Amino acid sequence: MSVIKTKSISKVFGDKKHETRVLEDISLDIEKGEFVSLMGASGSGKSTLLYLIGGLDKPTSGEVYINDQDINKLKDKKMSELRRKNIGFVFQFYNLVQNLSVEDNIMLPVIMDGRKEKDYKDRLDKILKIIGLEGKRKSLPSELSGGQQQRVSIARAIILGPSIILADEPIGNLDSKSGKEVMDLFKQINKEEGITILQVTHSEEAAEYGDRIIRLKDGRLE
Ligand SMILES: Nc1ncnc2c1ncn2[C@@H]1O[C@H](COP(=O)(O)OP(=O)(O)O)[C@@H](O)[C@H]1O
Ligand SMILES: [Mg+2]
Repeated sequence: MSVIKTKSISKVFGDKKHETRVLEDISLDIEKGEFVSLMGASGSGKSTLLYLIGGLDKPTSGEVYINDQDINKLKDKKMSELRRKNIGFVFQFYNLVQNLSVEDNIMLPVIMDGRKEKDYKDRLDKILKIIGLEGKRKSLPSELSGGQQQRVSIARAIILGPSIILADEPIGNLDSKSGKEVMDLFKQINKEEGITILQVTHSEEAAEYGDRIIRLKDGRLE
C-alpha cells in the first residue's frame, strides 16, 4: 500500500510577473514501511516538497495522497487532524519548547490532540527508553546536547504513533557521532514501529540508511 503518493505536483511561488518555479511534475510513490532519502543541492526544492507532502503548504497543481486520501480535498480542520495523527515532523533545529521539560515536550502532541496524558504514560516510558533519555525526562532542552535534543524531537514526532515521519535535514546541525546515533534511532523506529520515513539529507552516509535514494535537481526528480 502506498502511504505517500504525489501525482505530478508542481509548485510556483510568486505571481505571473515574478514567478519562481520550484517543483515540476513530481510523481512519487512511497510504500508502507519504506525508509526513503531525498537528496539534492541547496535550493533544489527538497523542503518545499516535504512541506507539500506534510500538508504545510499546497501544490500549485497536482495531488498529494496520504494513506490514499487526497489531502488538499480536506477542509482545514480535517487536514490538521490528519497531519497530527499521521505525520511526525522532525526539523534541523529540533523546534523544542524551551521552557518545557523533555517529557512535556514529548507529550505536546497528546495535549494538542485533546487526548488524556495518562493513556500515554506507558508509551512515554517506552519511548524515553528507546531514545535513551530516561534519566533526562525532567531536564530542559537547554540542558541537553544537540543530539539529545534531536532525539527528543523524534520522540515527540512518534508519540501518537504516526504512519509517517518527515525529517528535514535532521542531522544537519550535529557532529558525526550524534548524527550517527540519530540515524540509528530512525532506523530502529522504521524497523520496530513500521513507520515510513522520508528524510532530506545532504550526507551520503545518512542517505545510505534509506532503502532507496531519490534525487531532486532543479525542481525535477532525477
Ligand atoms: N515561500 C517561498 N516564497 C518564494 N520562494 C520560495 C519560498 N519557499 C522556497 N522558495 C524558493 O524555492 C526554492 C527551493 O527552496 P527549498 O525547497 O527550501 O530548497 P531546499 O530545501 O532544497 O534547499 C528556493 O529557490 C527558494 O528560494
Ligand atoms: Mg531545505
